[in-house]
Order: sequence, then structure tokens, then C-alpha cells
Amino acid sequence: MKTVANLVLLVIAMVWVTPGHAADCKVDKPAADLTLEELDTLYECVRPDLIKGYQKKKKEKALAYTDWKAASTTPQAPGTHSGQYLMTYVNPVGFDQYIQYNTDSTEMPNGTIIAKEAFTITKKGKIKKGPLLFMERVGLEAAPKTGGWKYSGLKPNGKKLKVKAAGFCHACHQAWPHQNFMGYPVEAVRVKG
Ligand code: HEC
Repeated sequence: MKTVANLVLLVIAMVWVTPGHAADCKVDKPAADLTLEELDTLYECVRPDLIKGYQKKKKEKALAYTDWKAASTTPQAPGTHSGQYLMTYVNPVGFDQYIQYNTDSTEMPNGTIIAKEAFTITKKGKIKKGPLLFMERVGLEAAPKTGGWKYSGLKPNGKKLKVKAAGFCHACHQAWPHQNFMGYPVEAVRVKG
């Protein structure tokens, strides 16, 4: 009996550690019908593969952000950011302040880095990996055109993403001057501070 049990465990382990293609994480109903719980389960399946891709080129921030705390409880359903599901992480410099979700113009401390993972669910229920985007607080002197933030990103394969920080990223983020230009996750998925 013991061998059978061990065999079962082995098979489970093999399935578990087989290089997780995000494609393996299937969704069997329209993405819009997924509950937050179901999204959570899906995210658990997707995340290891997202991380593996982001870290492929061993970029410093990609290696670091997996130690940071999550500032959203569940990947946020698509709104902006091209219909992607987003999950936000903040480094220790700015985490406590970020999760106040201030709307009173409070500036984040210099050195804050916010990372945002992204993926999409196709109509057929497949997962497509999205970029890992960063906002790094460097102060107005260092980044006068982008509200004191440095915007950057990595592709799903870990390579640098070319971003138009002023013309694209900040052009949208400047909509939130009272939130120090941060968009914040929707209320339903905010972490309680
Ligand atoms: C069309 C509008 C729009 C554009 C363009 C845009 N963003 Fe965002 N971004 C948002 C919204 C809305 C949020 C909040 C939603 C969320 O994070 O779940 C957000 C959140 C973020 C966050 C998490 C911190 C926060 O709360 O704001 C980061 C990091 C980020 N964006 C980086 C970028 C980068 C880098 C670019 C350019 C490549 C970019 N964004 C372009 C709308 C935009």
C-alpha cells in the first residue's frame, strides 16, 4: 500500500513541478464570470510561470520584487491597462504608505518601487502573459516631466520593455494628481492597512 501511496505522490509531484506553462492554467467559463476566489486560484497557477519569465534576464528589479508584499488581494479585473489582470507589489520603502491609498496629494518617499504583474485571459480561456511594469519614485528634480516617477517595464520574457514614460505612461497616470499619480487597485481588492 505504501508503494502505491508513494507512486501517487510521485505522480502528483511530477505534474506539480513540470515547467508550468501559463497555457496549462485554463479557464472554463467566460473570464467576466470568474469570482475573486476563482481568480485567486487561477493566479496561483499562473504566477510561477510569470515570475520565471520576468526573471529570465536576471534584471535587478525582477529578482527583487518577489520579496515585496502584495498591495492587492486578488488580480484586479480588467479596466485600463489593455484588459489585463493586474497584481501590485510595493517594496518596503513605500508599502505602508501605498496601502493607505491616499487621495490627499501625499508624496510617496523616494526609493519607493511599485511593481505590477499582468496577464490576460483570451476568449478561449487561455492565459497570455503580460509585462511587468514598474514605477519608481525618484523625485521631481530627477523626473520633472513625469511627476517625479520613473516608469519602466519588462516583457514576459524578461527583456527590457521600451516605454514612452512621458507620452504614454504618465500621460495616463497624470489623471491622479491627488494620488501622487498612482491609479491604485479598485476598492474590492485593496489590502487593508
Ligand atoms: C490608459 C491609462 C494607463 C496607462 C497608459 C498606463 N497606466 Fe499604469 N495604471 C493605470 C491604472 C488605472 C492603474 C491602477 C490599476 C491597478 O493598478 O490595478 C495603474 C497602475 C499602475 C501601477 C501600480 C501603481 C499604481 O497604483 O498606480 C504601475 C507600476 C503602473 N501602472 C505602471 C505603468 C507603466 C510603466 C506604464 C507605461 C508603460 C503605465 N502604467 C501606463 C492606468 C494606466
